[in-house]
Amino acid sequence: MSLFSKTTTAIFYNQHPKPIQRMLDFDYLCKRDTPSISAIVNPTNSGFHRAFFGTEEIIIPVFKSLEEASTAFPESDVLVNFASERSAYAVSKNALEYCPSIKTIHIMAEGISENKTRELIRIAKEKDVLLIGPATVGGIKPGAFRIGNTAGSLDNIIAAKLYRPGSVGVVTISGGMSSEIYNIVAQNTDGTYEGIAIGGDRFPGSTLFENIMRFENDREVKMIVALGEVGGTAELEIAEAVTSKKIKKPIVMWVTGTIADHMKTEVQFGHAGAKSGVENESASFKNAALKKAGVHVPKSFDTFGDLIKEVFEKEVLTDKHYKAPEDGNYNQVPTDFSAALKENIVRKSASIVSSISDDRGEEPTYNKIPISEYADKSIGRVINALWFKGKLPEVGEQFIELGIKLSADHGPAVGTAHNAIVSSRAGNNVIMSLIAGLTTIGPRHGGAIDGTALWCLDAVERDLSGKDVIAEHKQAGKLIMGIGHRIKTVQNPDKRVEILKDFIATNIKNSHYFSKALEVETETIKKKNNLILNVDGAIGAAFLDILAEANFTTDEIKEIVSLGALNAIFVLGRSIGIIGHALDQKRLKEPMYRHDWDDILYI
Ligand code: ACO
Ligand code: LMR
Repeated sequence: MSLFSKTTTAIFYNQHPKPIQRMLDFDYLCKRDTPSISAIVNPTNSGFHRAFFGTEEIIIPVFKSLEEASTAFPESDVLVNFASERSAYAVSKNALEYCPSIKTIHIMAEGISENKTRELIRIAKEKDVLLIGPATVGGIKPGAFRIGNTAGSLDNIIAAKLYRPGSVGVVTISGGMSSEIYNIVAQNTDGTYEGIAIGGDRFPGSTLFENIMRFENDREVKMIVALGEVGGTAELEIAEAVTSKKIKKPIVMWVTGTIADHMKTEVQFGHAGAKSGVENESASFKNAALKKAGVHVPKSFDTFGDLIKEVFEKEVLTDKHYKAPEDGNYNQVPTDFSAALKENIVRKSASIVSSISDDRGEEPTYNKIPISEYADKSIGRVINALWFKGKLPEVGEQFIELGIKLSADHGPAVGTAHNAIVSSRAGNNVIMSLIAGLTTIGPRHGGAIDGTALWCLDAVERDLSGKDVIAEHKQAGKLIMGIGHRIKTVQNPDKRVEILKDFIATNIKNSHYFSKALEVETETIKKKNNLILNVDGAIGAAFLDILAEANFTTDEIKEIVSLGALNAIFVLGRSIGIIGHALDQKRLKEPMYRHDWDDILYI
């Protein structure tokens, strides 16, 4: 009876996405109804693992312990143990001693000590559990179940016809060579029925002989192909079993490592168990003994395939009950989008387009310039790069920096500060208090810069007088953006506006827009002394002059204004003050804020 079937499910130890997905892709290729992994164990995490079963995205529960997983999924009788060398022994021993429903354990890790492996073998025999490994990719039941990465890529699996069972039981020591043998078997017979790579350690959890005996006792297996290695005497056990007719089915077998016979000294090959030096452990000796016992042994590995074909045709095809398996009946496994994109077999438009920065290279860039080149430049240069794609003149960078400094704060009484204070005193962190403060910026407070720019552009474009501007706004029932202040007046001017006025006078030859704003102010202050050009208005009008002086067309200027970039100057600046107030309240350990009743009119 084969170890695995189409309904076999495993518990996978260690959350390695690639082998997990490879097992599920094999399941889907073979048209299994359900995935072969029921649970994953990750000692440092629990929850869910996302993977694909065909095109369907599925979730596999992740448990912190093997016991929990095994208890939750008692029907899962295989443990695919991808624990590292450090923990593979303990995990395997834990499974043997505390997870009675697990009947087959695959151990991927190399480097488990011989005495620990022998202890596992002893316990496994007591519990009647089959060990595959250590130090192996595992095995495969064509059409039903794959352990981890066994048999390599899907292309190789399809080429070796592993999506459906054939008549040949395959057992090897080497995992890497097992993929090669599956291919040779597919080319020369009707394919593999079950394949096991026992691993290259000196004491494998299950031997070549034990696995061959499983094939001998499985009536679905019509012939056996085996690949041994120099070192150890497992092959001699097989020879004896063939001689004693314990094994009756035809076996085609080769022991690799004959090269060692030409070495004068003892040779240690890649696998721990593959060591030459003792006569009856040499490849030649063992090949001769197998041949003598009646095993089909090729002259060399080169003719292994031919002999397999010869034996298959003579021993299997001639059976009148023989029925050839159907080829080509498998699901096409979808290609991961990322892989398909790399292979240029799919394309899709990007979900996001960005033109201002790039983080993909060794060093991020702002507007295509490496960030290290900004280290000794002004913050205005960075803003120019990221807001305006570097199109502003240097005077524009200087102006923005000035605007940020002047709008950073205006005391604790103004809305932006007030909300930040109340929020911070409610126990919120700086980010929440910043958000609270920023919500008070609007058309009447800090958010009038763009509005100012729009009417200024229009007034200059249409050559309106200050009086015209006022009359049109009045007619439309609109306040003039950039005009008016709650506390600043003609007699108590806003120093910030004075500084901005000086900047423009010093740096800009033709300040048409700023002059237009001042012309309007001349008229509005006639109505009330607080209807001055405020800081929003000054920033808005001045910035237009800077763009115009830099030969931006009116359309280009309108586009910049339409983006909201000018209001952003105040937002960026005022964020500094808002954060300051939030921090200040924490520092002062101020209690929760509650408004005084006598300051509220209850109507
Ligand atoms: N345009 C036209 N008329 C105005 C303006 C304005 N911008 N601001 C006030 N007035 C009028 C009022 O309608 C009122 O007229 P009325 O007496 O005929 O009713 C008169 O002037 C007096 O108004 P006040 O109540 O003194 O003005 P208030 O102090 O309420 O408004 C404010 C100050 C909110 C700044 C206001 O001027 C305004 O909304 N301005 C436009 C938005 C703006 O520029 N905000 C930025 C302010 S600065 C900053 O936040 C950083
Ligand atoms: C500010 O910059 O917040 C002020 O101009 C508004 C105000 O009322 O102080």
